[in-house]
Amino acid sequence: MSDIKRVGVLGSGLMGSGIAQVAAAAGYDTIVRDVSQPILDKAKAGIEKSLAKFVEKGKLQAGDRDALLARLSYTTTTADLKGSDIVVEAVTEDLALKNALWQELDGLCGAGTIFASNTSSLTIAAMAAATRRADRFVGLHFFNPVPLMPLVEVVRTVTTSEETFKRAFAFARSLGKEAVAAKDTSGFIVNLLLVPYLLDAIRAVEHGVGSVPDIDKAMQLGCGYPMGPLTLLDFVGLDTTYKIAEIMFAEYKEQKYAPPPLLKRMVLAGMHGKKSGKGFYDYAATPPVVSNLGL
Ligand code: 3HC
Repeated sequence: MSDIKRVGVLGSGLMGSGIAQVAAAAGYDTIVRDVSQPILDKAKAGIEKSLAKFVEKGKLQAGDRDALLARLSYTTTTADLKGSDIVVEAVTEDLALKNALWQELDGLCGAGTIFASNTSSLTIAAMAAATRRADRFVGLHFFNPVPLMPLVEVVRTVTTSEETFKRAFAFARSLGKEAVAAKDTSGFIVNLLLVPYLLDAIRAVEHGVGSVPDIDKAMQLGCGYPMGPLTLLDFVGLDTTYKIAEIMFAEYKEQKYAPPPLLKRMVLAGMHGKKSGKGFYDYAATPPVVSNLGL
């Protein structure tokens, strides 16, 4: 364990609930905040489902699961996070929304509290500068599914103090994760490389280079990736990927980060991937079938 005892998590979507789960699993008292009770209930159900899988596989004892669940609490009141030693934010990729939350908590949290954003593509400096604790601000970028993926990028911006960086790095490792240090450039290490690859896979669909399952199969079997890029896009969320691409394109003005028209059309149609039931694949069927995109 690090010197941190209490963890606050802003946002209980795929990432926020995963972060809360691993924090509670590591022994931290963890409180998760989201905007409504139904959203929190969904997150709670997801965490319980994930833990049930670990118990089923003998990776977690039922008693430890119960103790973990007892360390987790849920709230719709942002101010309830004021006693946290670290607040990890995983809300939607909207800078104004994130900064409104940071500003509210800045006045409530103690001087020692670290603020950490799980942003995929926004600049940490743009959030740090909105607070009076720019020296105690870092990026902690987790990967989906958080309980299974071993990596956390620990992002240091121009104002992050050495002490904060070390505390955040130790915190990431205390969660049982491998940590890598990354600079505050949009996309950090992983998304800088992963996002152009995923967008190129969509362009390959647009250009009819191969069918959706064949593009997936090619990358899985040809390169040894655990998932093909279109399955991974459904898994990460097409809406999330679209937002990330827009932010990275705005930052770099490079074609490789520009969201392809097909991605935009699918997002507009509510095809957000696995979480909405439909993306490149239709998850109403078991096993999922390829969606008809009218191409
Ligand atoms: N909790 C507990 N168990 C889980 C779980 C969770 N949240 N999610 C999946 N599992 C279980 C599965 O149910 C499955 O259990 P089963 O064997 O009983 O069916 C088990 O884990 C293994 O999964 P699978 O057999 O389906 O398949 P894999 O062996 O391929 O493992 C995977 C799953 C680890 C997700 C693997 O496919 C993988 O590594 N995929 C790539 C994921 C990836 O690239 N993530 C990064 C995305 S980018 C990102 O997050 C950054 C952001 O900024 C965009």
